[in-house]
Amino acid sequence: MSISLTLTVNGTARDLVLEDPRVTLLDLLRERLHLTGSKKGCDRGQCGACTVLVDGRRINACLALAVSLDGAAVTTIEGLAHGDALHPVQAAFIAHDGFQCGFCTPGQIMSAIGLIAEGQAGTDPERVREGMSGNLCRCGAYAGIAQAVLAAQGQEQREDAA
Ligand code: FES
Ligand code: FES
Repeated sequence: MSISLTLTVNGTARDLVLEDPRVTLLDLLRERLHLTGSKKGCDRGQCGACTVLVDGRRINACLALAVSLDGAAVTTIEGLAHGDALHPVQAAFIAHDGFQCGFCTPGQIMSAIGLIAEGQAGTDPERVREGMSGNLCRCGAYAGIAQAVLAAQGQEQREDAA
């Protein structure tokens, strides 16, 4: 049974036909659309490496069936930068050493963007860590990650106030 769906992925409408209704959003992104920035760490909702935004809200792409998202807007790590201009959260991760090996980083960055948009990042690192507790980092770069999120949030607030 073929199933048709349309997703807007990083601003581009994609008409897709799935032969299997069990395809996850993560597999669709990585294997059909070749957007491999979203990582498959556990494939069972435990590591956060696959985090993307769907209609502006962060989700684990490994837990979402693609067919359930017909008409949705999906943003992945590949959709953040404009040419050579990084998204402020990407730039903050570099400035604050928010990664080591980088495997978890796309998911961390997408989760951070979601957290800031939710207004839940707070002003202290512990609050950020709690808000991003679903994103694991095997390298233990948590201190830099929290500082990056706070810095990016502060920059956004200053720009909003200007
Ligand atoms: S790969 Fe999705 S949560 Fe780990
Ligand atoms: S930077 Fe290596 S897993 Fe997080």
